[in-house]
Amino acid sequence: MNLRFTEEQEMMRKMVRDFAQAEIAPFIEKMEQGEFPREILRKMGELGLMGIPIPEQYGGSEMDFTSYIIAINELSKVSATVGVILSVHTSVGTNPIVYFGTEEQKQKYVPKLASGEYLGAFCLTEPSAGSDAGGLKSKARKDGDHYIINGSKVFITNGGEADIYIVFASTNPELGSKGISAFIVEKDTPGLVIGKDEHKMGLHGSRTLQLSFEDMRVPAENLLGEEGQGFKIAMANLDVGRIGIAAQALGIAEAALEAATGYAKERVQFGKPIAAQQGIGFKLADMATSVEAAKLLIYRAADLRQRGVKCGKEASMAKLYASRTAVEVTTDAIQVFGGYGYTEDYPVERYFRDAKITEIYEGTSEIQRIVISKQL
Ligand code: CAA
Repeated sequence: MNLRFTEEQEMMRKMVRDFAQAEIAPFIEKMEQGEFPREILRKMGELGLMGIPIPEQYGGSEMDFTSYIIAINELSKVSATVGVILSVHTSVGTNPIVYFGTEEQKQKYVPKLASGEYLGAFCLTEPSAGSDAGGLKSKARKDGDHYIINGSKVFITNGGEADIYIVFASTNPELGSKGISAFIVEKDTPGLVIGKDEHKMGLHGSRTLQLSFEDMRVPAENLLGEEGQGFKIAMANLDVGRIGIAAQALGIAEAALEAATGYAKERVQFGKPIAAQQGIGFKLADMATSVEAAKLLIYRAADLRQRGVKCGKEASMAKLYASRTAVEVTTDAIQVFGGYGYTEDYPVERYFRDAKITEIYEGTSEIQRIVISKQL
C-alpha cells in the first residue's frame, strides 16, 4: 500500500493552501456575516478548482480524485463554508451529469459547471423525507415534451445561488424508490420558487434554503438517466460525495488541532505551558491520533474511488469517523483555550459551530452506520 502523495497531489495541496490563505482568510468575517463567497468561487474557477476531477473533454481539470479531496480538505482548514460549496457543486451538482447524462446534456452543462461559470446544487431532501430519501413526495408527470414537477425541498446547499439543480421527483409513486427520476433544472425554469433561507448554527457563508416546484415545466430532454433510475443516481453520487464531506470534517478538525496546539504551547499556568501539563498534553495527543486515523480512512476511500473500486462502505466509514472527530476535536479545542475559546476572538468557536453539520448532511451518522452494516 502506497501511503505517499504524488508530486502532483502535493502541488495541489500547496496551491490550494496558498490560495486559501491569500484569498479566503481575509473574507472569513464577511462570510460569518452571511455573505456568499461569489468572488472567491470565480477565482477558484480560474484556477480550475471548480472541476478538478471532471474530464478535460468537458472542460474540467481531469485530475485524480485524491487531488480533489485534498483541495476540499485544504479549503476547509480555512473555511468549511467554501469546502462544502465546492463539495456539493462537484460531487452531487456536476458528477450526476458526468456519469448519467446523455452526450448532449454533458456538452450543454458540464463545461459551464466545471469552469465555475455555473454553480450546481442537489435537491433530494424534503420536509418529510430526510434520512428516508426514498420516501420523497415530489411528483413529476409527463406532459408532451415536458415534465410538470410539483413538490418542495428543504436544506438545499447552494440554493438560490446555483444555476443548475439536480432535482429528484417521483414519476411513478406506486414503485416507491424505484419510481424516482432525476432532472436537470435550470435556475430560471418557470415554477421553480426560491423559498426561505435557513439561519444556521455554522457555515454562515453558505446558503441553505427551501425550494418549491409549482407546476415547474422541465423539458423532457432534461430527464437525467432513465425514468425510475433517480434513486440509484442519488445514492451512487452520495457514495462519492461523502468522501468530500469527510475531507471537509477533517479540515475543520485539523484547523482546531493546530489552533489548540499553538495556544497550549504559549499559555502558561502553574509556571509552565499548559501543553506540558499532562491533562492538556494527553488531550492534544488524543486529538492528533483521531485526526490521523480520519485522514487514513479518507485517503483510503479516495484511492479506491480513483481506482474505480466500489467504495460506498469505505466512504461511509470515512464520513462517520471524520465527522465524529471534527465534533470531538473542536469541542476539546475550546476546552484547551478555556474561557477564550468561548469568545469570538479566537476561531475555535467557529470550528465548533461548523463541525456539527458534518454528522448530519449527506447522510446522518446513523445512516452511515446503516450503509456500513448492510455491507458487512
Ligand atoms: N449505489 C447504487 N444503488 C444503490 C445504492 C448505492 N450506493 N444504495 C442503494 N441503492 C439501490 C439498491 O440497490 C436498491 O435497488 P435494487 O432493489 O434494484 O437493488 C435501491 O437503491 C433501494 O435501496 P435500499 O432498499 O437500500 O434503500 P433504502 O430506502 O433502505 O435507503 C439509505 C437506503 C442508505 C438509508 C438511503 O435512503 C440514504 O442514503 N439516506 C440518506 C439520504 C442522504 O444522504 N441525504 C443527503 C442529502 S444531500 C446533502 O446533504 C447535500 C448537502 O447539503 C451537503
